[in-house]
Amino acid sequence: MGSRPIKIAIDGPAASGKSTTARELARRLGYLYIDSGAMYRAVTLKALKEGIPTTDAQKVAQLAETCHIEFRPNDHQTIVLLDGEDVSEQIRSPEVNIHINPVAANPRVREILVKKQQEMGRRGGVVMDGRDIGTVVFPDAELKIYMEATAEERARRRLKELREKGVDIDYDTVYQEILTRDRSDLTRKHGPLRKAPDAIVLDTTHMSIAEQVDKIYQLALQKIRELDP
Ligand code: C5P
Repeated sequence: MGSRPIKIAIDGPAASGKSTTARELARRLGYLYIDSGAMYRAVTLKALKEGIPTTDAQKVAQLAETCHIEFRPNDHQTIVLLDGEDVSEQIRSPEVNIHINPVAANPRVREILVKKQQEMGRRGGVVMDGRDIGTVVFPDAELKIYMEATAEERARRRLKELREKGVDIDYDTVYQEILTRDRSDLTRKHGPLRKAPDAIVLDTTHMSIAEQVDKIYQLALQKIRELDP
C-alpha cells in the first residue's frame, strides 16, 4: 500500500477478541501489530523471575525501564522477546495473571511502557491493542475501535481457548475471572479502560473473528482513502 500509513488503536475489555483481530488486521494491511498487554505481562514475568514482588512499585518500575521488549511477527502469532528470550508462552501463564494487577496499576511502569509504545508506533503503519491506546498512547490515532462483548460471551470464548490448551477449568471460574479483570481495568486510577470519545464501538457478541477483521479492515481502507485521496 503506497498511501500514508496510519495508526489504528483497538481497545476493549479482556477476551473481547482484540488480539486475534488486531493481529490479522495488521497482517492484511502489512502493518506492525503491537500487543500492549504483552508488555505489562513481560514486566510481570521479569519480576517473578527475579523474585521481586510485583507490589514493589519502585523495583518493578526499574525493571520496566531496563528491560527490552520486542515483537516479531510469525505466521500465526507474534513472538514476544524479553531481553532476547522468547517468552510468548510464559507471559500467558496463570502465575503472570495472578500477579499482573499491581504492575498495570503502577503509574511509573505505565509511563515507561506508554513511552516505549509511542516510540514503536511513531512512524504509523501500526495496529496496537490494549486498554488505553486511543485515550493515552495514541490520542491522535487516525482510527480508533472500541471492541466489546457481553461478559458471558467473553467467558465462553476464554473457556474454549483454555480447554483447547488442555486446561481443566469450569465456566463459572472463568466468568468470575472476567468480572474481576473488568473491575480492575475499569477502576484503575492510571490508564483505566476507557472508550475514546471518537472511537467506533464494535459489539462483537454475535460476530466471528473473520467478520470483526473484515469490518475494521473496511473502516481502515476508508480512512486511508480519506486521508490520501
Ligand atoms: O490484554 P491482556 O489481557 O493481555 O492484558 C494483560 C494485562 O495488562 C491486563 O491486566 C490489563 O489490564 C493490562 N493492560 C494495561 N494496559 C494496556 C494493556 C493491558 O493495563 N494497554
